[in-house]
Amino acid sequence: MNLINRPRRLRTSPTLRSMMRETRMSPSSLIYPIFAIEGENIKNPIASLPGQFQWSPDRICEAIEECIQAGVEKVMLFGLPAHKDEIGSGAWAENGIVQQAIRAIKAKYPDFYVITDVCMCEYTSHGHCGILCDHYVDNDKTLECLAKIALSHAQAGADMVAPSDMMDGRVAAIRKILDDNGFINIPIMAYSAKYASAFYGPFRDAAGSAPSFGDRKSYQMDPHNSREAMLECQLDVQEGADIIMVKPALSYLDVIVKAKERFDVPLAAYSVSGEYAMIKAAAAADLVDEYRIMCESALSIYRAGAEILITYYAKELAQAMKKGDIG
Ligand code: PBG
Repeated sequence: MNLINRPRRLRTSPTLRSMMRETRMSPSSLIYPIFAIEGENIKNPIASLPGQFQWSPDRICEAIEECIQAGVEKVMLFGLPAHKDEIGSGAWAENGIVQQAIRAIKAKYPDFYVITDVCMCEYTSHGHCGILCDHYVDNDKTLECLAKIALSHAQAGADMVAPSDMMDGRVAAIRKILDDNGFINIPIMAYSAKYASAFYGPFRDAAGSAPSFGDRKSYQMDPHNSREAMLECQLDVQEGADIIMVKPALSYLDVIVKAKERFDVPLAAYSVSGEYAMIKAAAAADLVDEYRIMCESALSIYRAGAEILITYYAKELAQAMKKGDIG
């Protein structure tokens, strides 16, 4: 055969293949989600997310220590309050659970990077992401609360805030309150294209945040749509989002590709609880090689264009990257 092109030529050895990788990633791009729960001496395994725990503030530094050991430098904090009410007031309480957790982490690890999820669903008695008006989430009333939540996180020492509520105008409202209070350098990572997804199922168990009636389809996006996702990203960028996010990740790789092409701000993807739980379940049933599936899934998200990955596998992925198995 007189073949001129032999793509296999560049696949002949591990050394050569490692040089030819088109997708590069490093542990510095990983964010690990952690759950803070009110109480003392709690490290509670989360049944729906094998290997993940709810931590009380007095023990949360154990989770941070594990991150540091694994080479992960950033976390995303979620809170489980002891009490909920109609308006989710625990979310912006000065001594709320996320605020306590931030202070606990910063007291021991002042340089560790703490991002907070800004939302109300863990704090409202009805489990919706905002203030209800006749069973409908009132957008503009919710904005005031979201702004207060973001400010209270910044005051407690958060390094970055990440609104996940999907209200219109929340980025502008949060940017304004942060700036008015002198937090001009606290970036906003907006959950811009956040879909009404069944992949959040295990998270709602972990965070006790399932809506008590109805669903989130009047604020989270319809999975049929991707043009609408571009509109959401565009509005967030205009309102001052520093980083935009697509969530979930694996079933929305096309949205990641599109967002990467269109927007000149850093792009994050959230590989959500259901994506993690599916791999765990398949691995527990001996159907797949967990390590390889984890690597390949994460790789696909970066290959699509994500530059930042939020994942429950952050620690294991950091190790895989360090070993050179991926990245
Ligand atoms: C809060 C929030 C959710 C997730 C992140 N922030 C749940 C939801 O919208 O129902 C999901 C994360 C995951 O599934 O891992 N609104």
